[in-house]
Amino acid sequence: MHEDTIGTVMITEDQIRSKAAEIGKQITEAFQGEEVVMVGILRGAVLWMADLMKAVDLDMSIDFMAVSSYGASTRSSGVVRINKDLETDIEDKVLIIVEDIVDSGVTLNYLKGYFESRGARKVVICTLLDKPAGRRVDIDVDYIGFTVDDRFIVGYGLDYDQKYRNLPYITYLED
Ligand code: IMP
Ligand code: MG
Repeated sequence: MHEDTIGTVMITEDQIRSKAAEIGKQITEAFQGEEVVMVGILRGAVLWMADLMKAVDLDMSIDFMAVSSYGASTRSSGVVRINKDLETDIEDKVLIIVEDIVDSGVTLNYLKGYFESRGARKVVICTLLDKPAGRRVDIDVDYIGFTVDDRFIVGYGLDYDQKYRNLPYITYLED
């Protein structure tokens, strides 16, 4: 049923790698001399983070978080459940959140507040994809790989029902 669009490449692996190199360079320049922790949001961000971190030339550490929203009725309140928390002390550090896609903005809005409440000195967001049509909360996204239109995106870490994360390119599913 979905397989007809799989194979239609929207964004190639080469494009993503070049973008990671470009943003990695910007991050390297922006955070010279800072203590940086790069935090990947599982599971969607893993491929993008792997590309990005190789392009960042800073003395930094990495960590991961896993989150899910509580369900449709509470999503708009911004309540997010933490399934795996950080293991790093982030006090006074610069935190770079690495996400696969910003859609409603609810998840990142929550995480930004959460990291600030745990004492991060600065929280910046770096997402592979931005889907502005889905936005429900206003949020500043510092680094954006690619802007996509209002389609359901899969591949390069992004899933539908846990499938397609391993596709080495970005594609979409027809409704
Ligand atoms: P937000 O809180 O609505 O911004 O949700 C972001 C999360 O929803 C992402 O981290 C993805 O896991 C998921 N998501 C949103 N849009 C898509 C999509 O088009 N494809 C796959 N996952 C998506
Ligand atoms: Mg996700």
